[in-house]
Amino acid sequence: MTNQTQNWIEKDRKQLHPVYHPKTHANPMVIEKGEGVWLHLTDGRKILDAMAGLWNVNVGYGREELAKVAYDQMKDLAFTSNFSGMTNLPSIQLAEKMAGFAYEGLNSTLFTSGGSEANDSAFKTARYYWKRKGKPTKYKVVARKGAYHGVTIGTTFATGLEKYHTMFGPAPEGYVHIPAPNPYRYDGKLKDGETVGQAAARELEEAILREGADTVAAFIAEPVMGVGGVIVPPSDYFPLVRQICDKYEVLLIADEVITGFGRTGEWFALKHWNVKPDILSFAKAITSGYAQLGGIQISDEIRDTMESAADTEAYMHGYTYSGHAMSCAVGLKNIEIMERENYPQRARELGKRLLDGLKSLSEFPFVGDVRGLGLVCGVEIVSDKAAKTADPAMTMRVFKAAEERGLRSRPLGNTLAFSPPLSINEEEVDEIVKRLGAAMDGIG
Ligand SMILES: Cc1ncc(COP(=O)(O)O)c(C=O)c1O
Repeated sequence: MTNQTQNWIEKDRKQLHPVYHPKTHANPMVIEKGEGVWLHLTDGRKILDAMAGLWNVNVGYGREELAKVAYDQMKDLAFTSNFSGMTNLPSIQLAEKMAGFAYEGLNSTLFTSGGSEANDSAFKTARYYWKRKGKPTKYKVVARKGAYHGVTIGTTFATGLEKYHTMFGPAPEGYVHIPAPNPYRYDGKLKDGETVGQAAARELEEAILREGADTVAAFIAEPVMGVGGVIVPPSDYFPLVRQICDKYEVLLIADEVITGFGRTGEWFALKHWNVKPDILSFAKAITSGYAQLGGIQISDEIRDTMESAADTEAYMHGYTYSGHAMSCAVGLKNIEIMERENYPQRARELGKRLLDGLKSLSEFPFVGDVRGLGLVCGVEIVSDKAAKTADPAMTMRVFKAAEERGLRSRPLGNTLAFSPPLSINEEEVDEIVKRLGAAMDGIG
C-alpha cells in the first residue's frame, strides 16, 4: 500500500460509514476503479465482485453509455422540483417505461432516492389508502423475521433482524413479525401434514386475526429474502399469502429492492409464482448503482382512491430528489441495456451454472445448504450437518479466505451470499466457484 493510500485511510476515520463498528472498518478496501465484474483496489489488488456492490450493479462496472447519458442530462437539466405542479421529461419517460413493466395493473410510480425511502413510502401510502377508504384504524404492518427493509425508523422496525433494532429502540408501535418460509430451517411450528409454505402463510393469517384485520394495513415481504440469508420460498407460499391478504383486506407490498430487474430470472420475482402485489418497492438495479434512485409502484385501485381526494387529503409525501432528472435518465438507459442484453434469461442460465457449481462444494463438511434463484445464491455454513448448527465464525473464515483469493462475497450470519452482476460471463461464474472452492480447501 502506498503512503498516499494509507494517508487517505487515516482521513477516512473521520467519516461515519453505514453499519459502522471500529473493528469492521479497521482496514477498509479502497476501491478506485471497476470494470465489468472486477474491482481494482488502490493497493493493486483485483477482486471479483460476486455481490455486484450491494446486490445492485446489474450491468457491471464502467459502462460508458451510462456515464454519457448522465453527462448529457446534467448538462441540460440535472434537477428540478418534481413536487405537484412541476415535472421533467426523464421522470415522465421512466415512469412511463415502468407502467405495467413489473406487474400488470401497477401503472403509477413515485420515485425516491433508494430502497428505505421506497418501503417507508409504501407504508405511508398504505395508511393513506385505508384512510381514504374510510378505514383509518388500519395502520399496522406485518413483516417476517429475518427480513431487511431498510433503515428509516419505519423500515428499521419492519426489518426482522434484531441487531438493527438493538441501539435504536424503542420501536414505534405497529410492526409485527412472523416466521419466514425457510425450507432449510423453518422456525415456526409445522402442523401435521403441513408444508413449510402453508405453515408460514398460516402464520400470516393468525397474525392478522390476532391483531385484528381492522388494524392491519399491509404485509411486506421480499420475494427472495436477501440480507436474511438468501431464503428462496417454497412455491406454494406466495399464492397463499395473496389469498390471505385478499380475504382480510390487507395490502401486499413486494419489497423487490434486491429481486427486481432480472436478478432472479424474471424481471420481477413474484412472477415466478404468478402473484401480483398491490404496492411494489424497487431501487438498487433500476440504475445498476450508477445513480441514486428507487421508488414504489401502486395498483390502479390505490391510484384511483387518490383522484377523488378532498383538498384536505392531499398526499403530503415525497422527497426533494423524487423524480431526479439525471437519475431517471440513467435509469431509463440502464433498463434499455438490461433489455438489450436479455437479463432475466442470463440470470436463469448463468444462475443455474453458479448454483450447480456452488452445490458441487456441498461435500465440504461445513457446507450445510446451497440455494438460489437466478443469480442470487446462498451457501449456509454449519458446524454439524445433521443438526444444522449455524457457524457464523466459520462463515467469516471462509469469507476472509475467499477475499484473500480475490473473491468478494458477503457474510450474512452463517450464510455467504453471491449476487454478481448479471453481465457476468460463464468463465467468471466458474471463477467464483473455483476461488470459493480453493478458500474452503485452504481451511480444510
Ligand atoms: C430488500 C431490501 N429492501 C430495502 C433495502 C434498503 O435499500 P437502501 O439501502 O437503498 O435504502 C435493501 C438494501 O439492501 C434491501 O435489500
